[in-house]
Amino acid sequence: MKSLAKAGTFEIGRRTVKRLGYGAMQLAGPGVFGPPKDHAAALAVLREAVASGVDHIDTSDIYGPHVTNRILREALHPYPKDLVIATKVGAKRGPRGSWEPAFSAEEITSAVHDNLRNLGVDVLEVVNLRAMFDAQGPAEGSIEAPLSTLVKLQREGKVRHIGLSNVTAKQVEEGRSMAEIVCVQNHYNLAHRSDDALIDRLAAAGIAYVPFFPLGGFSPLQSTSLTAVAEKLGVTPMQVALAWLLRRSPNILLIPGTSRVEHLRENLASAELELPADALGELDRM
Ligand SMILES: NC(=O)c1ccc[n+]([C@@H]2O[C@H](COP(=O)([O-])OP(=O)(O)OC[C@H]3O[C@@H](n4cnc5c(N)ncnc54)[C@H](OP(=O)(O)O)[C@@H]3O)[C@@H](O)[C@H]2O)c1
Repeated sequence: MKSLAKAGTFEIGRRTVKRLGYGAMQLAGPGVFGPPKDHAAALAVLREAVASGVDHIDTSDIYGPHVTNRILREALHPYPKDLVIATKVGAKRGPRGSWEPAFSAEEITSAVHDNLRNLGVDVLEVVNLRAMFDAQGPAEGSIEAPLSTLVKLQREGKVRHIGLSNVTAKQVEEGRSMAEIVCVQNHYNLAHRSDDALIDRLAAAGIAYVPFFPLGGFSPLQSTSLTAVAEKLGVTPMQVALAWLLRRSPNILLIPGTSRVEHLRENLASAELELPADALGELDRM
C-alpha cells in the first residue's frame, strides 16, 4: 500500500516487513485479561490492518491468555503469505492476571505449542524470549537456560527466528553468542529513551529494534512539546510520536497497539508524516 510503503522496510531474519506494523495486545480484555469488550471490533481492527498493508503483527499467547491469538486466527487465517506474526514466550499469567516468569524448559516448550495451536500454524515465524528477572524493565541475569530450550525448538522446526524482549545489552550479547537474534523488543518511546546506545549497536549489526509502548502504553504519552509540534503540523500527538520513532533509526519497526479502527488509521497515516528539522530538534530535546 502506498502510504505504509513510505515508512520503508527492514529485515527480521530472512523476512522483510514494512516498518509500520501493529501490536495486538490491546485486543484482549481490560488489563490484557479475558475476552475483549467488543469481539467484532477486534476482528475489524485486524482485518483493516492487513487490508491497509500491515505485514508485521506482534502478539503473545499470554495476552488474554490465549485470547489475542485466537482472535488473530479467526480474523486472518489462512494468513497472507507476506504476513510475519511475532510472538513471545517466557511469561505466564496468574489467576488474577499477574505477569509471572515462565522460564523452565517445560514452560517454554508448552508456550511454543500453545502459540502454534492457537494461531493455527506449523511453525512460528518469530519468537521473542521475554526476560522476566524484573517484569517492569530489563534486569541482569543469564538467559542461557530458557534460550537453549528455544534453540532446541528452532532445530526441531517449530520456530523460524528468535528474538529477545525486555533485555539488557549484556543479555543481547549472551543471546547472540548462542543463536542468531533477529530482533530486540524493549520499552522505548519519545519519553523513555534508555535504549539509545543499544538501538545504535543493533542498527550497526542489522538487527531490528521493536519498541513496545511506542505511544506510552497504558499511560499514553502527554507532553506540551509534543502537543505543540503536532498542532503546528496539523496532525495528532500520537502521529508525531510514531513519526519520530521512524526517523530515530532505520532498524526500528513499529507495532503501535489499538483496539479501535479510527486509531489504527491515524497511526498508519504517520508513515506519510515528514518531520521538519525544527520539529525534530524540539522532540529530541523533550
Ligand atoms: N515485549 C513486551 O514485554 C511488551 C509489553 C507491552 C507491549 N508489547 C507489544 O507492543 C505493542 C504496543 O504496545 P501497547 O499496545 O501496549 O502500547 P502503545 O502502542 O504505546 O499504546 C497503546 C495505547 O494507546 C492508545 N492508542 C493507540 N493509538 C492511539 C491514537 N491514535 N490516539 C490515542 N490513543 C491511542 C490505545 O488505546 P485504544 O485501544 O483506545 O486505541 C492504548 O491505550 C503491544 O500491542 C504488544 O504487542 C510488548
